This record gives sequence, structure tokens and C-alpha cells, in this order.
Amino acid sequence: MTEPSSPALPRHVAIIMDGNGRWAKGRGLPRLAGHEAGARAVKLITTHARKLGLKALTLYAFSQQNWGRPAPEVEGLMKLLGHYITAERAEILDNDIRFSTIGDLSKLPRNLQDAIAELKQASAGNRGMDFCIALSYGGREELLRAAQAMAAACVAGDLTPDAIDEAEVNKHLYTSHLPPLDLLIRTSGELRISNFMLWQCAYAELVFTPVCWPDFAEGDLDDAIARFCGRERRFGLTPDQISK
Ligand code: FPP
Repeated sequence: MTEPSSPALPRHVAIIMDGNGRWAKGRGLPRLAGHEAGARAVKLITTHARKLGLKALTLYAFSQQNWGRPAPEVEGLMKLLGHYITAERAEILDNDIRFSTIGDLSKLPRNLQDAIAELKQASAGNRGMDFCIALSYGGREELLRAAQAMAAACVAGDLTPDAIDEAEVNKHLYTSHLPPLDLLIRTSGELRISNFMLWQCAYAELVFTPVCWPDFAEGDLDDAIARFCGRERRFGLTPDQISK
């Protein structure tokens, strides 16, 4: 394994894995076949991210809004996720990867919740790379949850409104254990954020690729990272200030 990551590399990359359905349709296959092919791409890209030395990889697998999809597709995705967690357990542990999720897991089938909890616990001490799956996740929902928790802490006398700053908000987000988001990639040619990591995207670099997720391969991640490396991140400052 290559580590630690070079300073030019993004530390935290997130991917909106889009285009499974179109990939399947284009081949005359059912949508679930697209998700199955998408799960194979998840394995490939996670392994590659670890080899590159990224510190964190977050993948958007299922949004809060995806619960509204037809029941057979939702059930198929839940089964696929359960299968993935069982099949990749050893790979995750052997490669010093810490597994986590962001999102409201309470709606997931009980057996999937248990499998997730078990792998989180088993991998909690790993530090080679954070691998995070966004599941039953919504960016607005995450911000509402944080606002409610901070309001409750104020009512309880544990926090004052004046003390609510960026660090305090960060503490209440699902992503509090992850480094700041550097690069967000979306596949399949769609040019949207779709309720994903809204707070965390504030200064992330965005890369959109026409490649559908099941076809997204190691070279596509390399290309996105090369595009990231070629950009100047200014965080609201001037180029002169940055170069100093
Ligand atoms: C978006 O494509 C994709 C999803 C809603 C599901 C993503 C799931 C996987 C990649 C597989 C399982 C995940 C893991 C972590 C093992 P879409 O279905 O909206 O595609 P479309 O826009 O072409 O219809």
C-alpha cells in the first residue's frame, strides 16, 4: 500500500455514483443489473483509492429520497448492500480500512443494520483509509438533525447560541469523523449535487464525468484526481495570497 498520501492528492474524495439505471437500460438489462455492476465498481474504486493513499472515500449509495423508488428496486439495493458488506468484510479489515456510514440507518432492514454495526465495530481501530457509505442520507436532513441537536443542547443549558460556530456545526454532522471534503465527483453526466454533503461541499472541487458508474474505472478516478491537482483552491482569497 502507498502511504501517506502526497500533499497534492485530495485527502477526502466523495462520489455520487450515478447512471446505473441508464447503463442497464442501454444493454437491455433490468435496473438491478445496473446496480450489481455498480457494486463491482465500488469494489474496484475502493481498492484503487486505498492504493493511491487517499485518506477518505465517501460513496453516495442510497439517498433519503431513494426510499420513494419502486419497492423491488429498494429491496434489491438493500440485498446488494448486505451482500457487499459480508463479501468485502475481510478485504476491508485486511487493508486497514475503517468502515463507516452517514445517514439515517433506522429505516434499513434490521439484518443490514446489524451487519453494518458489526463491521463498523470490527474496523473502528483501522486508520489506513476511511471508507464511508452514504445510506439513507440527505444533506438537508443532516443539517436539520444538527440544528435540532444544537437547539436541544441550548435548551438543556449545555450550549449557548453564541457558541454555535463552524466547528460546533461540524461536530453535529454525520461526517464529524472524516477529513474535510476536497473533491466531489459525479458520474453519468448529470450536473447536480442532489442533496449530497451540502455543508461539506462549500469548498470542495467538483468534477463531472459522462461515464456511468458501472463503467467508472481506476483511470477515471486518476483523471478526476489529476483535474483536482491542476486547480488552484483559493477559499475566497486572492491568487497572490494563496501563492504566499
Ligand atoms: C444511482 O443510479 C445509483 C443508485 C441510486 C444506487 C447506487 C448503488 C450502487 C452503486 C450499488 C450498491 C452500493 C454499494 C456501496 C455496494 P440510478 O439508479 O439513479 O441511475 P439512472 O439515473 O441511470 O437511473
